[in-house]
Amino acid sequence: MADDASPNWGLRAARSAILAVVVFAGLALAWAAGLFGTPPQAASVGGPFVLTTQTGAKLSDAELRGSPFAVFFGFTHCPEVCPTTLWEMSEGLKELGPDADRLKVLFISVDSGRDTPETLARYMQSFDPRMVGLTGTAEEVEKAVKAYKVYWAKVPTDDGDYTIDHTASVFLMDSKGEFFGTIAYEEQRDTRLQKLKRLLAEG
Ligand code: NI
Repeated sequence: MADDASPNWGLRAARSAILAVVVFAGLALAWAAGLFGTPPQAASVGGPFVLTTQTGAKLSDAELRGSPFAVFFGFTHCPEVCPTTLWEMSEGLKELGPDADRLKVLFISVDSGRDTPETLARYMQSFDPRMVGLTGTAEEVEKAVKAYKVYWAKVPTDDGDYTIDHTASVFLMDSKGEFFGTIAYEEQRDTRLQKLKRLLAEG
């Protein structure tokens, strides 16, 4: 009944003090974990893949280490975005001069059903011969798609065929295989060139 006056008051005060210290330590740990813990990986773009080039050879991301690369996802039946982008990248390589030999430019087809290495070989003839077309099984392509967080979806056409909506950004990756930046679709010619130059100088 008469708890307030009880001689246990000192003990209760000590318990409260301990509780306060425990709570404070817990909060401090949570703060430290938030501050020094692993940063969120949400922004990471890129990752492992093994695909087949237009000559039938295998190419993995690991083989690209040591030189920067640019990678773009699309499909050879694409009416506009893909040919425009590949043409602009061809133009960029030409403008970079001899430095461009250090830059790998990859075109990964998300249309594994139609884009065989032979199809890609014919298609890539329209562009700078240094660029590499890549295809693979649906699973192999999907692995690259997931790594680069690319969006694509088949869209049925009136003639019973299909077209594909897809991410139109070119991903710029440094020589360690880490994300460096992007080139947006129809970005200004000068901006595109500056981005490629910066990738070669710093990436
Ligand atoms: Ni396209």
